[in-house]
Amino acid sequence: MTLPLADPTTSSLIEDGPELIDLHPAVADMERLVIEGLSRHPRQLPAWFLYDAEGSQLFDRICEQPEYSLTRNETKLLQERAGEMALALGQGINQQPVLVEFGAGNLRKVGPLLETLQPAAYVALDISADHLVPACRALQARHPDVPVLGVCCDYANIDHLPPHPLLEGRPRIGFYPGSSLGNFELPQARGLLAHFAELLGPGGRLLIGIDQPREAARLEAAYDDAAGVSSAFAFNLLRRLNRELAGNFDPAAFRYQAQWEPTSSRVAMALVSRQNQMVDLAGRSWSFAAGEPLITEYSVKYTPEAFLALAAEAGWSPLGRWSDGAGDLSLHLLVHGKMHAHSQECNHANPTVQRGQP
Ligand SMILES: C[S@@+](CC[C@H](N)C(=O)[O-])C[C@H]1O[C@@H](n2cnc3c(N)ncnc32)[C@H](O)[C@@H]1O
Repeated sequence: MTLPLADPTTSSLIEDGPELIDLHPAVADMERLVIEGLSRHPRQLPAWFLYDAEGSQLFDRICEQPEYSLTRNETKLLQERAGEMALALGQGINQQPVLVEFGAGNLRKVGPLLETLQPAAYVALDISADHLVPACRALQARHPDVPVLGVCCDYANIDHLPPHPLLEGRPRIGFYPGSSLGNFELPQARGLLAHFAELLGPGGRLLIGIDQPREAARLEAAYDDAAGVSSAFAFNLLRRLNRELAGNFDPAAFRYQAQWEPTSSRVAMALVSRQNQMVDLAGRSWSFAAGEPLITEYSVKYTPEAFLALAAEAGWSPLGRWSDGAGDLSLHLLVHGKMHAHSQECNHANPTVQRGQP
């Protein structure tokens, strides 16, 4: 689908639906990032390359696989506890806030928060324009009372949210579910959390979903499902590179692998070369040795303590946490700035770690 916008400074209606601002994120950067990524050891590409139109649809199918429990568990947690979360998010805020979701995907998780928080507006940021347009339209139809604004951008590389009347003069609350922080290695993850604080402004709050370490077999199965959807998601990257950067990757010359790396507390997903081979891409030739991985994505898993320590380094303080029954994931509520200014709220909102339903 082609977006209705060519001018990044303006927005337009999506066929009588919500507004969309397209900052055209991928075009400028892709070639440079591919050359940088393939020059690294191990070779590694930014995870957002996985999300073209086809990749976004494959990701939605991954979420339906029995091995990938994250989406089901996080959605359930939101459905069951959104009332408490909205109370805690809104405490001490005198104006109706704007809710900003980073990497919004199919917008299937935010519904309970829209109902309970009743924000003045909802802003969905995503890099995959083809996916964002229909998702915004469907969300607006489900929630006609909340103005929806879609912004197609790379959330890690914008200086500020685009100027728009819906965003002016209102407190901003960030929503970052799906444990997407895990796609970033530690220094970048720390930088991203600090960047979100800037995008959200003074006193910004962030509700963020974080997947936790568990048994290697369960983690590896989650990222290498029996139906082969995770594998197809990774191989789609090669098709994208061939199409957009004049590549000649032969998918049959690679195999997919998802491996838990305990020392880094992460799952590493890779396409591993089956043989010594040369690949042309972005005007250069690249040699792959037999067994050499091309990392398509990492998924770092954090214990709650490790995550809060990282968040603190980026200036965030904890206000609350909700966890699923199995202790596989948590939704953390953070406020930017010193804890003491908000400790009262914290005690009222969420005195202790909360696990599942009573
Ligand atoms: C793992 S999916 C999560 C989707 C959804 N938030 C969820 O929890 O199910 C990551 C989403 O973030 C988007 N995304 C990835 N990197 C991004 C970036 N740098 N800027 C904007 N969107 C990005 C992808 O297009 C995709 O929709």
